[in-house]
Amino acid sequence: MNKSYFIETFGCQMNVADSELVEGLLQKEGYKPADNINSADAIFVNTCAIREHAEEKVHSQLGRYNLIKKQKPDIIIGVLGCMAQNLKDSILESRPYVDIVLGPDSYRKLPEILNRKANNAKSIVDTKLSRYEVYDDLFPSRNEGINAWISIMRGCDKFCTFCIVPFTRGRERSRSIASIVAEAEQAVRDGFVEITMLGQNVNSYKHEQEGFPELLEAVASISGLKRIRYTSPHPQDINTELLEVMAAHDTICNYIHLPLQAGSNRILKRMNRTYTKEHFLGLADHIRDSLPNVGISTDIIVGFPGETNAEFEETLDVMEKIKFDSAFTFKYSSRPGTKAAGYSNHLSEEEKKERLQRVIELQKNHTLDRNLNTVGNVETVLIEKESKKSTQHWAGRTDSNKWVIFEKHNSKIKDFVPVLITAAKGVSLHGDLIYKEEAHVI
Ligand code: 5AD
Ligand code: SF4
Repeated sequence: MNKSYFIETFGCQMNVADSELVEGLLQKEGYKPADNINSADAIFVNTCAIREHAEEKVHSQLGRYNLIKKQKPDIIIGVLGCMAQNLKDSILESRPYVDIVLGPDSYRKLPEILNRKANNAKSIVDTKLSRYEVYDDLFPSRNEGINAWISIMRGCDKFCTFCIVPFTRGRERSRSIASIVAEAEQAVRDGFVEITMLGQNVNSYKHEQEGFPELLEAVASISGLKRIRYTSPHPQDINTELLEVMAAHDTICNYIHLPLQAGSNRILKRMNRTYTKEHFLGLADHIRDSLPNVGISTDIIVGFPGETNAEFEETLDVMEKIKFDSAFTFKYSSRPGTKAAGYSNHLSEEEKKERLQRVIELQKNHTLDRNLNTVGNVETVLIEKESKKSTQHWAGRTDSNKWVIFEKHNSKIKDFVPVLITAAKGVSLHGDLIYKEEAHVI
């Protein structure tokens, strides 16, 4: 009889893509997806270590798996990903019911390990990082949908002082353009209309002599592919050539994630971010000049060790000057083993909370301002799902990555439709489908 698996994924989109890769491997071994966690023969959790909060969520899930294992002692429990890499000893010590611990470069070993596990009561651990593993030849098992995640490079060599990723995911390495194009073409044949190319540092992509602009150019000409997104880039690797390729192809979405992290030059230096506030402001201008109506989002960390009130105000000042379309905002979380964890003058939770609140409030205003600017425009929207608020409405995104809610009429999921934007509320836009009989699909 076929064995079944259940996999839970925490953290970034890279983890979502990695879980699809693991599913592909499991299915090749004859495993089937379980209907629910209680009926599975094997449970895997793909973990995230980026902030303490992410780890806490995984720990509480592991407690739940322990209860399941008490009822079903033969079940296999596997911990995958960044926490497996980082915390293997403490997981094995404090959670003896965990059978398998596999780091992000060890998934290829999963079938062999499952076979070994069948004849072995001991936990099996493999967390060796590789300079080469890019899982080039493995095809992920994707659920049907709109967007296919394609990982194009792995690891990070930037070593921002707050970040655990270079330790959990190892050195940067990239796949060949040919293998990425082949995977994107397969995704189109499987019915996907959008791809998102993923990497911890997506625009550091380098394979032999080819860089990220060359890769984007190659992917942009795949027939049947309607939208191309990518995340997450580093400001240091955004150049004119990349912006020119984006401007030249309608299929490449008019959207850039540009992580600021902090607005003070002293803090940026202590973070090892390699740019100054002035450079970042210039870059944002250059992006907006090159790509009219581009959507720009960012990441901001408040309360980095030693951040003074005046330095925090500089973050607000840069936000005010740029007015990002959206932002992911975080309280600094100390990650054992990183350089910043050893810095002095860590801020209290209260101070970090208060700064975070101010950043969130300011961003709310900016998001609304930026969204209000689109009222009266006709935007091309890819219909992705039913709106949470009403069964009569769709939710879809503009190519600048803004969500739009509008009445369905005769349109359907995966259609590209022109929508007149009529209002901006909260973080979304509202609009009316410009319905031309028989011709509403672009
Ligand atoms: N504390 C808070 N935020 C962090 N990030 C990365 N490491 C930390 C940390 N230790 C944030 C950064 C990064 C995003 C993916 O997560 O803003 O861009
Ligand atoms: Fe972490 Fe910095 Fe690398 Fe991003 S660029 S993954 S924040 S070390």
